[in-house]
Amino acid sequence: MSLLLALTARLIACLAILQFTTAYIVTHNLTGDIPSSAVMNFVYAPFPAPQQQHRSRHLLSTRNLPISAFNGSGSRGWSGGFRKNFTIALGGATPGYNAGPLEVGEWNVVLGPYVVEAAGVDWSVNVEVTYAKAEGDGMDWEGVEYWRPTLGQSSDMEGAVRESEEQWLRGDFHMHSIYSDGRYLPSEQMENAVKKGLDFIFFSEHNTDSGSNEIGRWRPEGAEELLVGRAIEVTTRHGHWQAIGLDRGQQVEWRYTNETDGFAQAADGVRQSGALVSINHPYASCSRCDWTLDWDHHDAIEVWNGRWSPLNELAVRRWQDELVAGKKTVAIGGSDAHHPPEQNGLPTTVVRTSVKSQAGIVQGVREGGVYLVEGPGMELEFSVLVDGIEYDIGRTAPTGSGTAVLAARGFLDAIACFVTDTGYVKNQSLTEDPVRYEVDDSRFIRVEVRNSSDVLLGLANPVFFE
Ligand SMILES: *[C@@H]1O[C@H](CO)[C@@H](O)[C@H](O)[C@H]1NC(C)=O
Ligand SMILES: *[C@@H]1O[C@H](CO)[C@@H](O)[C@H](O)[C@H]1NC(C)=O
Ligand SMILES: *[C@@H]1O[C@H](CO)[C@@H](O)[C@H](O)[C@H]1NC(C)=O
Ligand SMILES: *[C@@H]1O[C@H](CO)[C@@H](O)[C@H](O)[C@H]1NC(C)=O
Ligand SMILES: *[C@@H]1O[C@H](CO)[C@@H](O)[C@H](O)[C@H]1NC(C)=O
Ligand SMILES: *[C@@H]1O[C@H](CO)[C@@H](O)[C@H](O)[C@H]1NC(C)=O
Repeated sequence: MSLLLALTARLIACLAILQFTTAYIVTHNLTGDIPSSAVMNFVYAPFPAPQQQHRSRHLLSTRNLPISAFNGSGSRGWSGGFRKNFTIALGGATPGYNAGPLEVGEWNVVLGPYVVEAAGVDWSVNVEVTYAKAEGDGMDWEGVEYWRPTLGQSSDMEGAVRESEEQWLRGDFHMHSIYSDGRYLPSEQMENAVKKGLDFIFFSEHNTDSGSNEIGRWRPEGAEELLVGRAIEVTTRHGHWQAIGLDRGQQVEWRYTNETDGFAQAADGVRQSGALVSINHPYASCSRCDWTLDWDHHDAIEVWNGRWSPLNELAVRRWQDELVAGKKTVAIGGSDAHHPPEQNGLPTTVVRTSVKSQAGIVQGVREGGVYLVEGPGMELEFSVLVDGIEYDIGRTAPTGSGTAVLAARGFLDAIACFVTDTGYVKNQSLTEDPVRYEVDDSRFIRVEVRNSSDVLLGLANPVFFE
């Protein structure tokens, strides 16, 4: 990165001090160019730090950037290509950024262009720092205006924690809001989740925790029972991964390429903190969305992203290959809903847990007690009977044989497909009665439910054999 700092970036800092009645603004106009060979790296545009601590508001704005993030003593947020400017102030910030003072010290706007142009990229960033004239001066001076939503009273983030008998909770691990590049308000996502009968959702903004820090204030009436968890969609230059079940304020490093072990370090840190690492939409076709980092540091794969597609089919195949190789990777789903008409809950991920809390859901996924369905009303019950004992999804039975039984509800004209380490072993039309398959000498068995167009409508994680 020091190489980057030394890069050809020409930095021209201009200072303009504008006098206001109660505040003054210092402007830094930074410009530079990135040669095409370095476009996939990150570029740091440093600007002189505030000279003193101020209890005032600050306005920072960037323009004409494909991607921008802000990093002084830690990351203060991310807005990707979605916004052309942002503001960080004492009492609030543009969604995607965390409010608070600008600490004394060097700050950087981090640029991450993602389109390689033969001519390279010329960039300019204008930074305005607004100081109060005197310590403790009026907080609400005119002149610093930026968009931010009106928030309600803070309420508990997660919602009610409930302990119970083991139960299956329906949810969605992947969605966005105005806190990164979505147009849904968090409250709208929560309302939709309640309509879809979901018990839990995880907001997963790109590279920022700022939404999670305020999410309790978005909870609408009627969503009191909805569990809302913390995730980040870690958006790198070589694909996206999901950190699921983060602590409040926990951030995840995303500024690495495939030439370092940055991903391994970040993923190990997330797993050590108790959260999950999942590879998102590994074969997505958008620029830099497909997974090209290593496959050695994840607990789960998002095999079903949004509406079913051939790209999801590739992810299921990849997952099957890992199972065959002896890795107990868990298949999960995520709607990736950003704005209407995209809907959360498509697909729905159903997790077995006895505690309705973020930690309970994370533990349920770790145990592999997970199945996926297209939407409301669809349910799977899948187990293997060995010597009169039932081994449920995610469990390990003692021998390589038994009777696999699938009972499926809410599917029309669908086909049950039984899959073992040798591949698809039996396809049978679903009826009201459970369908069975005699397993013989297998290492695992799992099921898929498909319709006659070969669209996946349901999928259960395996029952394993010792
Ligand atoms: C910085 O850029 C802004 C916007 O382009 C311009 O209005 C301002 O005059 C510039 N300031 C200096 C000191 O060049
Ligand atoms: C950015 O923030 C991280 C902490 O998250 C810090 O370790 C790093 O030195 C900062 N980088 C720059 C260039 O300011
Ligand atoms: C900042 O971006 C918003 C749109 O996100 C736009 O409405 C506003 O005019 C921009 N402000 C400046 C100072 O460019
Ligand atoms: C890193 O990714 C680039 C494409 O983005 C590829 O050309 C290069 O071979 C990769 N390097 C390694 C070490 O995998
Ligand atoms: C069962 O269905 C799957 C999915 O459509 C297909 O790939 C496979 O060939 C079928 N297998 C059998 C044994 O019919
Ligand atoms: C299969 O399911 C998809 C997704 O729900 C649906 O669009 C399609 O019409 C279904 N095909 C059949 C033959 O029912």
